Amino acid sequence: MRMVELIEKKRDGGSLSRQEIEMFIQGYTLGEIPDYQASALLMAILLRGMTDEETRDLTLAMVASGETLDLSDIADVVVDKHSTGGVGDKVSLVAAPTVAAAGLPVGKMSGRGLGFSGGTLDKLESIPGYRVDLTVPQFKHQLREIGIVLTGQSANLAPADGKLYALRDVTGTVPSLPLIVSSIMSKKIAAGADAIVLDVKVGSGAFMKTVDEARALAEHMVRIGRGVGRKVAAHITDMNQPLGCAVGNSLEIVEALETLRGGGPADLAEHSLTIAGEMLALGGLAENLEAGVERAAITIRSGAALAKFRELVVAQGGDGRYVDEPDRFPRADYVKTIQAPQFGYLAAMKASEIGVAVVALGGGREEKGQPIDHRVGVVMHVDVGDRVAPGASLFTVYAASPEGLDAAATRILRCMRLSDTPVDRLPLFYDRVV
Ligand code: URA
Repeated sequence: MRMVELIEKKRDGGSLSRQEIEMFIQGYTLGEIPDYQASALLMAILLRGMTDEETRDLTLAMVASGETLDLSDIADVVVDKHSTGGVGDKVSLVAAPTVAAAGLPVGKMSGRGLGFSGGTLDKLESIPGYRVDLTVPQFKHQLREIGIVLTGQSANLAPADGKLYALRDVTGTVPSLPLIVSSIMSKKIAAGADAIVLDVKVGSGAFMKTVDEARALAEHMVRIGRGVGRKVAAHITDMNQPLGCAVGNSLEIVEALETLRGGGPADLAEHSLTIAGEMLALGGLAENLEAGVERAAITIRSGAALAKFRELVVAQGGDGRYVDEPDRFPRADYVKTIQAPQFGYLAAMKASEIGVAVVALGGGREEKGQPIDHRVGVVMHVDVGDRVAPGASLFTVYAASPEGLDAAATRILRCMRLSDTPVDRLPLFYDRVV
């Protein structure tokens, strides 16, 4: 079948066969199918959707586009986690060392920032020397030696996703359920973990805007993972405001370190413990989620989680002194705290706008490959539901220039809405799919 016939079939609402999907993925990965035809098919998929079977076939074809890691010679169970992307989401930096310190190996390949959402790799690169380009043999060696790896996606794993993601990013085809499911699950399956915990974000700072959409995404990913013999659990979690207070690379590392020391913002600490607890339960080191959360809390209190993070940093070439003394992280040149202009209850803030403000400060990329400034960002001092008095601190901006500072402050102030009457706090979790 020719590519144009495949596009027409999907355009007209038909279902693609496994052979047709494999032909597309193989042809596109090898560069035999041009971007314009791939884009047309992606848009047809976004508009017409895919059946469960098509989505599974697409995921498996993307896994087969590259290498699949076999980690069975390293441990009986290796666990991984994945967040669908958010603002201020530094949970991996807390949960992964906590789980590894409790005795369950964590082998994780993370991504860079995407649009308004931050990326674990960019955050880790705030630590001088930290390398995110481990080869597969280095990944396996470190996992065996110290039980934790946080590195970048190897180019050999699910290469179809790398190419398709870049195309989706510039063709308006990111927010499609089958395309998101296949993108995330192909990477997770290829990376070889036996147990996978998914943190599916919902809200103004997430790709999924409603709990129903997020639940559909979570259920789909869980089904596909289980279909290939992986243990999978998902949590549907709030992303209507940044997680924790800090948004911006080194600011987020400092906040993650506080949380690993047993402090940090309460929402981040609870969120990280829950994800770590689920990883421990799914990996068989805890009887259930509650026992997993308890074990994770003990691991943090004992100092073992922080020590494991330090071990990780040093193993990947980073300067461990930054873990011991977070004051070493260089501070942005221009720092200003913005105050509330009037009395009110914080009713809403648009998390994506805060993410965009940090990107504009230089903390993320507006073009592919652009270097980023790890020092810049924002620290929020209020949550939705807080009562705010006139003159109370709302947020602090860390900028590289006075103009950048003013632009970020204006953008963030504009996305915060105050109400005269009390407002409910936002939940951290909406649902769990197991
Ligand atoms: N994260 C991914 O890895 N892929 C998507 O399609 C969306 C979020």
